[in-house]
Amino acid sequence: MRFSERVQSLPPYLFAEIERKVAARRAAGVDIISLGIGDPDLPTPANIVAALQHAAADPVNHQYPSNRGTAAFRTAVAGYYERRFGVRIDPETEVIPLLGAKEGVAHIGMTLLDQGDVCLAADPGYPVYTTGPLLADGTAVALPLKPELGFQPDLEHVEPSALAKAKMVFCSYPNNPTGAVIEDDFFTRLTAFAEEHDIVVVHDNAYADITFEGYVAPSFLQTPGAKDVGVELFSLSKSYNMTGWRAGAIVGNPEVVDAFWRLKTNMDSGMFGALQAACVEALGGPQESVAEMCRVYRRRRDLLIAALRDIGLRAEPPKGTIYLWVPVPEGHTSASFAGLVLEQADVIVSPGAAYGPSGEGYVRLSLTVPDARLEEAVRRIEERVKF
Ligand SMILES: Cc1ncc(COP(=O)(O)O)c(C=O)c1O
Repeated sequence: MRFSERVQSLPPYLFAEIERKVAARRAAGVDIISLGIGDPDLPTPANIVAALQHAAADPVNHQYPSNRGTAAFRTAVAGYYERRFGVRIDPETEVIPLLGAKEGVAHIGMTLLDQGDVCLAADPGYPVYTTGPLLADGTAVALPLKPELGFQPDLEHVEPSALAKAKMVFCSYPNNPTGAVIEDDFFTRLTAFAEEHDIVVVHDNAYADITFEGYVAPSFLQTPGAKDVGVELFSLSKSYNMTGWRAGAIVGNPEVVDAFWRLKTNMDSGMFGALQAACVEALGGPQESVAEMCRVYRRRRDLLIAALRDIGLRAEPPKGTIYLWVPVPEGHTSASFAGLVLEQADVIVSPGAAYGPSGEGYVRLSLTVPDARLEEAVRRIEERVKF
C-alpha cells in the first residue's frame, strides 16, 4: 500500500506514545499515575447529562443535523459570549458548532492556506497547531512564546520571510502548556499585527473558564477590531467536563465562519442535535459547577506545586488551565527528566519538547487525576525523585 506524503509526514501523536507507555508498564503490573494527559476526571454536571437524555429521545434529533447548528445552539453561544465577555455575536452569521475545538484547529488551515502559505503557530503549543497546517499543504512556522515576555510571542521580531508568507496565526490563552494568561494589551497588539500583515488570528479559547484566584480570562473577540481580523475557537470540553462529548464552536469574523462552514459541509454532517441541546443547557444553565471545578483544580495545583518545590524544582502556580509548566533541573532535557520521573516514581509527566522546540527544558503536569491519586503522585515525587 502507498500512503500520501501528507500522512507520512505527520509526527507520531504525542499522547498515543504516552498511552502506549502507560499500557506497557501497567501490563507489567506497575501502578502508574499519569499526569500526562489533560482529560478532566470529574463527571459532566447532571443537568447537562439530563438535557442530552431528554433530547436523545426526541425523533427530531434522529435525522441529519444542519452544519450551521440549531438556532438554539447558536443563540446559546451568542448569549454566553454576551454575558461572559460582553461580546456581541450574530447567531445567524458569526457562530457555527464544532465537533470540539480540535476540529476547528485541524480544519481551519484548509480554509485559509494554499501550498507555500505559512501559519504562525504558538510554540510551545497544542500539537495540532503544527499538524493542521501540514494537512492543508501549508507550512507551520514556530512562533516562540518567550518566558521573559510571560509566554507571549515577540510580534516585533517575527522572522521576515515567514511573515511575508503568513496568512494565519494560532495562539491560545489561558495557555496550554505554559499556563500563561493575558493580563496586558497583548490582544490589542495581536489585532494590530494581524491588520498590518493581513493575517487571520485564530484564538483558541479552550481554557476560558479554568482560572484561579479571581483572575477572569478575556475573549480575544472583546478586543476592539478583533472580529475584523479573526475568530475564536470555543470549547465545552474543559469548562463543563465534556471532553468525551466533542462540542465546541467557531465564533467571530463572519467571512471566516462562512468559509469554514463551506468546508465543513464537505467533511461531516454536523453535531448531533441532542448534543446541541445539551450544550444549550451547559451554556445557559447553572454555572456553579464551573466555579467548584476551579476550586478542585486550584487545590490540586497547590499540592503539586508544594511537592515540586520540596524536591528543588522552580515551580510557579499558574492563574489558569489544568497544567503546571515546570523547568527541568540542570543537566536534564525535558525527555530525560520525564523518563526519570517515570522510572523513579511511576508517574507520567509530558516532556515539554513534545509541544514544540521552545518547550525543551520543561515538563508539563496535568491536574486531571482524582484527588487521592494526585496525593499519591505527590507522595511518590517527594519521596522518590532524586536528580
Ligand atoms: C489548547 C487546546 N486546544 C484545543 C483542545 C481540544 O479541545 P476539544 O476537546 O474541544 O477538541 C485542547 C485539548 O486539550 C487544547 O489543549
